[in-house]
Amino acid sequence: MDYKMKIAGGIPLHGKIEAQGAKNAALPVMAASLLLKDATLRIHKVPRLHDVITMADLLRDLGADIFYEKGEMSISIPEELSWETPANLVRKMRASSLVLGPLLARCGRAILPLPGGCSIGSRPIDLHLKGLSRMGATIDLVHGAVHATANGLKGCRIYLDFPSVGATENLLMAAVFAQGETVLENTAREPEITNLVQTLKAMGAIIEEDGTGVIRIQGVDELHGEEITVIPDRIEACTYILAAIITGGEVEVTNIIPQHIDSLLAKLEEAGANFTVEQDRVLVHPVKRLKAVSLKTLPYPGFPTDLQPQVMATLSLAEGASVIQEGVFQSRFLHVSELNKMGAKIELQGNTAVVTGVEQLIGADVNATDLRAGAALILAGLAAKDETSVFHIGHVWRGYEDMDIKLQQLGGRVEVIPTEPLSTKVNGAVRKEEA
Ligand code: EPU
Repeated sequence: MDYKMKIAGGIPLHGKIEAQGAKNAALPVMAASLLLKDATLRIHKVPRLHDVITMADLLRDLGADIFYEKGEMSISIPEELSWETPANLVRKMRASSLVLGPLLARCGRAILPLPGGCSIGSRPIDLHLKGLSRMGATIDLVHGAVHATANGLKGCRIYLDFPSVGATENLLMAAVFAQGETVLENTAREPEITNLVQTLKAMGAIIEEDGTGVIRIQGVDELHGEEITVIPDRIEACTYILAAIITGGEVEVTNIIPQHIDSLLAKLEEAGANFTVEQDRVLVHPVKRLKAVSLKTLPYPGFPTDLQPQVMATLSLAEGASVIQEGVFQSRFLHVSELNKMGAKIELQGNTAVVTGVEQLIGADVNATDLRAGAALILAGLAAKDETSVFHIGHVWRGYEDMDIKLQQLGGRVEVIPTEPLSTKVNGAVRKEEA
């Protein structure tokens, strides 16, 4: 079943909403549970998202017993685990590759069908595999699947050619039981990495991480069950901040760690947005029109690639020309042609988009090609004149919990409807069933 979001645009959003727990922190933390033996990891503030459900299904397939209700998840890992991951689940979500490191560390072997390319670029996992090989794993590719084996991983020094988030997480988890010391250099420094480090440390791992891109791990023999909380989702929070700005609304977004969103707040200030930052929240006040600003996406603490499409939608209505460079992914511009269908004036030159602000976007039928592109089109639809339908809205459910309901709470006139023959399973009902 496919769905679209129908949006009646032009209504300023008003009110207060709370950001969910971070998708990109919850997924690696869930994968880390595989390092346990006969123990339970309890996780608070787990967002109800398709990617979380996929990861839960994957862990269950490997032998985990999972209970999940109202954001509380407990994952019990038995003595014996399977190490062969099912292709149908791995292909659904690239973050499935995060089970490779923990499985190898815990079981001494793992089979992972190679996740292919996706709509935001080729996204290989060569850095993950190179690092695991340095730790002593034997990696073979058999019929498109990674077969990894290790007779005890060994601590070593690994310099990442690029500060990949997934490679840092996988190697971190693999190193927890490695013999001696592992030093990871040029690691990703995203807040989600720190959340994983804190989780592993709470479970008994010995790790030093100070945010400089060097992480030291001393191998231990076992980990124990724990209870931890997922950090707030900085990308979801910023998407609602931008939704308030693009509609000229007044919205308070709570459950924010302001330091995590500095790069966006700095750009918004430069663009003339009006907002107040408090300890754990941001209040957006209305402004007429932003000024154009230029930016380049980079690994944290640089401007996040996961906000590039939403910021582009917002700047498509700014005064002047903004230049947006994508510095993390090979091609993350599939939203450009869709925004242009709505009257935006965006030109692409390689990995750079020149966004000439227009005074008004006009509602249209557009396609969400991936999660953040979908969010960008929803923002554009909220601001546009007339009605917009964003098709394939399922992409958005991978990362935004109840986005239609949250927007409705803020006064947005949005509705999710099936685009295929009729079913009684609409909105909440489907999600409830899937959860
Ligand atoms: N890369 C390689 N080789 C590797 C690993 C990465 O060339 O072995 C390249 C990728 O192709 C890409 C770049 O490095 O061009 C960044 O990839 P990275 O590994 O850092 O990203 P990821 O771990 O696959 C996570 C998030 C993404 C987010 C990126 C960058 C999760 C589950 N996913 O992906 O989130 O865009 O980091 O910040 O944490 C999203 O939420 O919409 C999303 C795509």
